[in-house]
Amino acid sequence: MKEIGIGITGCGSATPQQVMSNDDLSHLVDTSDEWIRTRTGIRKRHLATNELSLSDLSTQAAAQAIEMAGLTPADIDLILLATSTPDDLFGTATQIQTMLGANNAVAFDLTAACSGFVFALITASQFIRTGVYKRVVVIGADILSRWVDWSDRTTCVLFGDGAGAVVCQGIEAQDHLLGFTMYSDGKQHEALSLNYQGQTQSLTENLTIAQGTYQPIFMQGRDIYRFAVEKVPEVIEKAVFKADLTIDDLHWVILHQANQRIIDAVAKRLKISSEKMISNLDEYGNTSAASIPLALDEAVRSGKIKPGDIVATAGFGAGLTWGAAIFRWGL
Ligand code: ACO
Repeated sequence: MKEIGIGITGCGSATPQQVMSNDDLSHLVDTSDEWIRTRTGIRKRHLATNELSLSDLSTQAAAQAIEMAGLTPADIDLILLATSTPDDLFGTATQIQTMLGANNAVAFDLTAACSGFVFALITASQFIRTGVYKRVVVIGADILSRWVDWSDRTTCVLFGDGAGAVVCQGIEAQDHLLGFTMYSDGKQHEALSLNYQGQTQSLTENLTIAQGTYQPIFMQGRDIYRFAVEKVPEVIEKAVFKADLTIDDLHWVILHQANQRIIDAVAKRLKISSEKMISNLDEYGNTSAASIPLALDEAVRSGKIKPGDIVATAGFGAGLTWGAAIFRWGL
């Protein structure tokens, strides 16, 4: 049987129109534009109103990616939605399938926080390599503003909402997914969480259940910072090695957009010039699973990333989870 390779042939993105600046935030909590900019690089974040759903943003991003790939929604076999903030806990990917009109696709959600897009891309590639599916849409989307404690200045300044998507296709020529790695470590789960918390309710004399809701995002910022600057360079080096490349072969690096200081520290550790590090978190903040495909889409549409360029992506976040995928953009 002929080996099937992966081609990443389309991308798209969508963000809410509503924008909150650092100055706007300083009316809400005790912070300043100067503190946020110098510690994180973030200037603004786009926030979803109650009228805008995760499926709306995801559908827009996916439709653009399908169009760029020269396909129609009916050509799609599989839709993978990486998110931690579904509209429906039973899954949101099927709503996107219907909104797109992708009637021949199977659709499901996958959760790996800010590593979600990289993990979903790698998952999609397994279905393509085994010949099960040929045309897959991978979406990373999150509306973390729903789950942020807007009175907690240590977290609320960081996050924004958005969606990004790519189309992956089975191709017989070359495999453009050049290397990848994924890791998780549940021992550090408590450092970053969005935990369910219930209260005990008695149903009968002998039967109790718990009902409650999810608590706002909790983060030990310094621990996450240390984790990111240690693990991200390591995971990129491993994926580069698997791809039989060197760091110098990379044209572009797109890290999960969490903090400009993390991006700068990773570039320094890997001796990568800052011009190769793609960053748009000044405009969007940390959009979790959306951040990598959102940055990719902007860089492709602005002409920065060109067909044939080698792009290293790395996600990291809650779980804890982290991973990298290196691909050649386009056919
Ligand atoms: N405005 C003003 N002061 C603040 C703010 C704020 N928004 N937030 C915290 N401070 C204060 C603190 O209270 C503290 O004051 P104190 O010294 O009087 O106690 C001081 O600033 C320093 O606080 P630190 O938490 O030590 O600040 P640090 O320099 O570590 O920066 C930050 C915090 C930006 C969160 C940093 O730790 C970081 O980037 N961590 C990584 C976070 C991350 O990347 N998360 C996302 C990855 S996972 C995911 O995406 C879901």
